[in-house]
Amino acid sequence: MSAINIALLGMGTVGTGVVKILTNNAHNISQKVGIPVVIKKILVRNLTKVRTVATEAELVTNIEEILSDPDITIVVEIMGGEIPSKEYMLAALKAGKHVVTANKDVVSKYGRELFEAAEASQVDFLFEASVGGGIPIIRPLKQCLAANQITEIMGIVNGTTNYMLTKMSTEKLDYADVLAEAQAKGYAESDPTADVGGFDAARKIAILASIAFGVRITLDDVSIEGITNISIQDIEYAKELGFIIKLLAIAKQDEHGINVRVHPAFLPASHPLASVNDVFNAIFVKGDAVGETMFYGRGAGELPTASAVVADIIDVARDIRHNVSSRILCTCFDQKPIYPVNK
Ligand code: NAP
Ligand code: HSE
Repeated sequence: MSAINIALLGMGTVGTGVVKILTNNAHNISQKVGIPVVIKKILVRNLTKVRTVATEAELVTNIEEILSDPDITIVVEIMGGEIPSKEYMLAALKAGKHVVTANKDVVSKYGRELFEAAEASQVDFLFEASVGGGIPIIRPLKQCLAANQITEIMGIVNGTTNYMLTKMSTEKLDYADVLAEAQAKGYAESDPTADVGGFDAARKIAILASIAFGVRITLDDVSIEGITNISIQDIEYAKELGFIIKLLAIAKQDEHGINVRVHPAFLPASHPLASVNDVFNAIFVKGDAVGETMFYGRGAGELPTASAVVADIIDVARDIRHNVSSRILCTCFDQKPIYPVNK
């Protein structure tokens, strides 16, 4: 084998970042894997669209051109949405291809089905970029903190709304204007209702809670309130009282049950999360052995998100090189919660 050939499904904000990193850091990545990682094909909707980055990969519009290509061993889903992303990922896994995704919609809803398909084909299914953008959080929960009983996860997990709340607070900009800015910067989902309505954060905390507590938590288990009713006046009143408004995602487990929720909260200005601004995310994880840990970094955007996607690609490429697979599959989405889930 002289190279690992991969295909991207999507070349939007995240896909462009993936192309840039795999191009600019090609030498470094090749040294880490042992052989070059090459993008052979990219699935897009529109072949005539002007792209902001040059690539030697072939742009295609038919998924079959990727699924039936025996040279392509890793499929990277960065299109977003449920349809047709879920079906494309399942088809790729069933065809024996490793899958990397940034898609929290699909992982939070169909994680179990995808893991089963990956396990059946003895391939990897990795999704580090689905939560926290560039922050390492999935792998730390699955691996580095695996010795712990996790009791609580709390943090800011949506970059768009944190950017909006920051700008509304510091520059007194209107809700609609700051949402448009977040969209222009590539932070928001294609339907930004998912961000401002709290659903994106809810999907992310459902994924984190599923891994941390070793059970299956879905969007339906999360109590959700977004920031659509927050005005500049609310932010100003909060400030007068010494508080900062942040959209928090919280998952707690104790002997009474599991509680998973997303809502805006008044944080004392001295709280560590109160100074997490702009597109940054921060996530606290409490474990019985390690105590409190905090993960911080850019939660959305082209290169930070692509950083997490490419790290997954490198992990899978190393697995392929060393002929191991399904190494870090996760059974957590299978189990029913042992404690009641209270909304
Ligand atoms: P995006 O900018 O909207 O790009 C989507 C890409 O997918 C485009 O290249 C589009 O093709 C292609 N595409 C969409 N539907 C398709 C279809 N049916 N067939 C073929 N191609 C299709 O999205 P993004 O912001 O990069 O996000 C991608 C994924 O990453 C989403 O799951 C998102 O939640 C996740 N994510 C995003 C961020 C972020 O900061 N943006 C961070 C973390 C995770 P055309 O270019 O031809 O239109
Ligand atoms: N729309 C998401 C956010 C992208 O703003 O956090 C990163 O998952």
